[in-house]
Amino acid sequence: MEEQFKDLDNGQIHDELENIPANKSGNRPFSSVLEANTSRRKVMAGSLTAAATGFLAPNAVAGWGWGYGKGKGKNKELVGFKPVAIEDVVDTTMPTISEDYEYQVLIPWGTPIEPGATTEYTGDPNTRPTSAEASLQTGLGHDGMWFFPMDQRFKTAYGHYPMRNDAGMLCINHEYGTNPHALGKPSPESLEDVRLSQNIHGVSVVKLKRTFRRGWKVVKSVHSRRITVNTPVAFSGPAADSELLQNTNGNIPLGTVNNCGSGPTPWGTYLTCEENFNGYFGANGSYTPTEEQDRYGLSENGFGYGWHLFDKRFDLTDPDYANEQHRFGWVVEIDPFDGTQKPVKRTALGRVKHEAIAIAESSDGRIAAYMGDDQRFDYCYKYVSNQAWKTAIKNGESPLDDGSLYVARFDEDGTGEWLELTIDNPVLAARFSSQAELLVYTRVAADLLGATPMDRPEWTTIGKNGEVFWTLTNNSQRTEPNAANPEAPNSDGHIIRTVDSDDYMGTSFTWDIYILASSTRETEGVFTDPDAAWADPYGRLFIGTDGGQPDGLQDQLVVFDTTKDEPEAKRLLVGVNSDEITGFTITPDQRTAFINIQHPGNGSPASTNFPAEPDGTTIPRDCTLVITRKDGGIIGS
Ligand code: FEO
Ligand code: CA
Ligand code: CA
Repeated sequence: MEEQFKDLDNGQIHDELENIPANKSGNRPFSSVLEANTSRRKVMAGSLTAAATGFLAPNAVAGWGWGYGKGKGKNKELVGFKPVAIEDVVDTTMPTISEDYEYQVLIPWGTPIEPGATTEYTGDPNTRPTSAEASLQTGLGHDGMWFFPMDQRFKTAYGHYPMRNDAGMLCINHEYGTNPHALGKPSPESLEDVRLSQNIHGVSVVKLKRTFRRGWKVVKSVHSRRITVNTPVAFSGPAADSELLQNTNGNIPLGTVNNCGSGPTPWGTYLTCEENFNGYFGANGSYTPTEEQDRYGLSENGFGYGWHLFDKRFDLTDPDYANEQHRFGWVVEIDPFDGTQKPVKRTALGRVKHEAIAIAESSDGRIAAYMGDDQRFDYCYKYVSNQAWKTAIKNGESPLDDGSLYVARFDEDGTGEWLELTIDNPVLAARFSSQAELLVYTRVAADLLGATPMDRPEWTTIGKNGEVFWTLTNNSQRTEPNAANPEAPNSDGHIIRTVDSDDYMGTSFTWDIYILASSTRETEGVFTDPDAAWADPYGRLFIGTDGGQPDGLQDQLVVFDTTKDEPEAKRLLVGVNSDEITGFTITPDQRTAFINIQHPGNGSPASTNFPAEPDGTTIPRDCTLVITRKDGGIIGS
């Protein structure tokens, strides 16, 4: 067992290998750094007030105007629960949750996507699912997800949209699982092994229902499905017909991979974000990356998955599949209420290592989508639609196909500019022949505009007053600080807050640093490496962490009351050894939340057996936790 898992105790595949900086453009827009954040806060304070005034139904977008639970619940304070104290965390083979809360384990790796679909895999160390079984089970690497209440898009006979709090479709990303975890060996030895690895990646769509006696469970639905890297997909938007997305052998577009974070749309669909797609490609012959391939981190060995050994699509040296790599790195739209829908890759949103996406709606109905590109020294992006989303949807068009893409430059004085990535800019026209080519190489275009290199932009979320929170998880390789990334190296990460001009539609913004995680080091609310994020309509901000936590803690779910002047992290949950806390979604009444325990023990049963009780042998399995307050109150209160 030890030997089998010796390569696993690293967390490296996706914490180190993925984050070799691919940005060598050397943008350093600040001549001097570290202006006090207090002066930026003053600029920000005015913007927050202005944003609040013109602000339309904050998380109406995140929840399509559901009837979210009002306010504070039974607690007087917005974030009033008893936090997990550092000394409460004594056994990290199992999670520790606030004494005001309880959790239930749901859909661990290997759960049939509906009852009877296939057998269940329960963590037996002597076996693994077959690839066929895995294609009908929940996968590994539970990450971004969203709960779509039944049947929110269909009006009742009384003209209401039902807002079920006890039943819905859950779309959930399976970002990754290492070969030792998924296959029980370091490398695939056959195409069957590769197919198993491929099938534990992707997205699951499952129907959940709360039962009176037994809590939440998976039930049958015509909408249930698995989407993997072998599922037919479609391309839309400006790059859809680009030659750069065609291969000489004419193979149809297939699949999605390394689905990291996500976000819902106002029209009731799920957006899944393709992050470290480069890691699944490799080279069977001699390979020298082009400038563009290098910028996206493509390399001879990838992350060691070995798919290219048995599946030509992932061999960078196979001329038949020369453009396969360009088919990944997109935001992909999935309909949770149509199990036959072909997932659509929305090229207008650019091709980067998409972490997650948060959509805001302006008062004229257009949308802005905020997205991070998670790599050391990569950028923050925004997309703005040309049409109001309701108009587009009514006309059978997508608001995600027609719009403008921008990349952020953060200036020292607490303002910033959204720089448009358009072929109409002579600087970009000199480099690219079309908007399609520009979008396929979004990172290269962003380099040319002088965007600000950030400390690994992860999730985004829209706050109570219309502000956007951006988690910057860390950057151990930063040597030159700038105002928006003031620590060098940045070991602990930080959270930035932006407010756009012109009701989300403008090209300028104000910003400040909401919190430097290093500032919590000596406090009871210590946390580092902020990653997953979700803000509720009342000012609560939920943050999941991904990285070694201080003081003997494992990764955490912490909650802020953003209506207070001084940020204070309250610890709602601590995970298990070598896991990551990610994904966050909630029922419309905000009384049931779902979060993910990703890669518990990095797959090693010597570290934890969660969700099984400690036994030293059962393979730990990624799973979702259903979180409720014991008194039935609002989550976070
Ligand atoms: Fe998949 Fe950047 O986290
Ligand atoms: Ca992440
Ligand atoms: Ca991360």
